[in-house]
Amino acid sequence: LLPSALLPTGLKYRRNVAGKTAVFNGEEVILEETDWYLLDLFRLWWRYGISFIRLQMWVEEIMEKFMRIYKYQAHGYAFSSVEELLDSLGGSGFINMTRRPLSDSLLELGVSQRFIDEVIAPVMRVNYGQNVSIPAFVGAVSLAGAQNNLWAVEGGNKQVCSGLLKMANANLLKAQVTSISPLHSGEVLQYQLNFTAASGVGSELYDIIVLATPIQASVGSGLQFQDFAPPFDELPGSYHGTVATIVHGYLNTSFFGFPDPRLFPFASILTTETPSLFFNSVASVCPVNISAGFRRKQPQEAGVYKVFSPQSLDKSQLKTLFRSYYSAQVTEWQAYPQYGSSQGLPPVELHPNLYYLNGIEWAGSAMEMSSVAAKNIALLAYHRWSKQTDMVDQKDLMHRIKTEL
Ligand SMILES: *[C@@H]1O[C@H](CO)[C@@H](O)[C@H](O)[C@H]1NC(C)=O
Ligand SMILES: *[C@@H]1O[C@H](CO)[C@@H](O)[C@H](O)[C@H]1NC(C)=O
Ligand SMILES: *[C@@H]1O[C@H](CO)[C@@H](O)[C@H](O)[C@H]1NC(C)=O
Ligand SMILES: *[C@@H]1O[C@H](CO)[C@@H](O)[C@H](O)[C@H]1NC(C)=O
Ligand SMILES: *[C@@H]1O[C@H](CO)[C@@H](O)[C@H](O)[C@H]1NC(C)=O
Repeated sequence: LLPSALLPTGLKYRRNVAGKTAVFNGEEVILEETDWYLLDLFRLWWRYGISFIRLQMWVEEIMEKFMRIYKYQAHGYAFSSVEELLDSLGGSGFINMTRRPLSDSLLELGVSQRFIDEVIAPVMRVNYGQNVSIPAFVGAVSLAGAQNNLWAVEGGNKQVCSGLLKMANANLLKAQVTSISPLHSGEVLQYQLNFTAASGVGSELYDIIVLATPIQASVGSGLQFQDFAPPFDELPGSYHGTVATIVHGYLNTSFFGFPDPRLFPFASILTTETPSLFFNSVASVCPVNISAGFRRKQPQEAGVYKVFSPQSLDKSQLKTLFRSYYSAQVTEWQAYPQYGSSQGLPPVELHPNLYYLNGIEWAGSAMEMSSVAAKNIALLAYHRWSKQTDMVDQKDLMHRIKTEL
């Protein structure tokens, strides 16, 4: 979904490797992709009726409105809160979508409960480890992501960050920030950052700070806010812990109802909301570099798989999913907000020149959302600094941009 303009120079798109997806309900595969697009459409139609088309139109309409942000930002407009940003893109409808469950919005659209259980829930489980009670806006963002037009960067997506850093010519200090405190001298406000680096502790003064890490207590940023008046507290809410297990081994295709691995045609398996299932998804992963002759490993061969689960997998669970394996590498992290508690959207401006990026994750957690938030803060900080109030929170931007041209 990232517009190609956001691809830092020197990076290339990774070649796509085809692979089919199936949905597993704990007993059997209930939905499978075929090689034939029309057959897939026909099957979806047969099984779910008009739900599929309604969903498609809904997601497209939302994305079309969302894409306005790139036009606004190209013209330099910024927003002082996530609510203002969403309101300018999709009016109160977008803000309301951050407050109501996805399932309610879909049922109201006329999408069937069966479609929600068998198609929507599996997508929410793989993307957010959560169910269809997550807010409609984040749900729509991830459904847009499920539509196969995503791309990856050759050599690994992490190069987007290092590439942008290089382009910015920034002076990078590798250190863990331990505290932030405001320092007033006369009219001038600065922030003192204390940090620990490999070379020892340090302290610097800055005019503007952008925090790009969650500061909810549960995430444990290790950051202290000192001397803020009124005292500055951590934000409410918590993040959802997800476990990613990268396994090199032989998938147990019997578990999915395919005793002969050579007849197992899927590269990724999503799951329905089934209490007995201990994982959210399993997918064969491809290298970050794909050579011309590359082909995906077949299920009868040892391959590399990524399993998402709410808890670490124990030995017997790994032995259930894999006939045998050479290695299992576990990464647990606070991946995305735990949606559902009604804490509202966090602020972008925490203090006059102290900005917070990760609040956008509560509207929608995705790389694209974070890059939109980052650009917004860059513009906002600039306009605040140069006191250009007519570039912040402006109404009717579609119209204004047309008349500016
Ligand atoms: C959003 O919710 C508010 C308050 O409940 C309501 O007045 C408004 O009409 C809603 N907007 C849309 C587009 O549904
Ligand atoms: C989704 O999960 C939340 C919290 O885990 C729970 O309160 C809610 O009832 C669940 N919703 C559905 C539709 O299963
Ligand atoms: C993978 O691709 C990146 C970017 O194109 C390149 O810099 C790197 O050398 C490649 N690595 C291998 C092992 O081919
Ligand atoms: C930050 O470091 C400075 C200089 O070492 C020190 O005076 C100050 O008390 C420290 N601030 C906090 C909040 O620890
Ligand atoms: C694979 O799955 C089948 C069916 O669920 C199960 O009986 C078996 O114990 C699993 N493990 C291995 C190693 O075959």
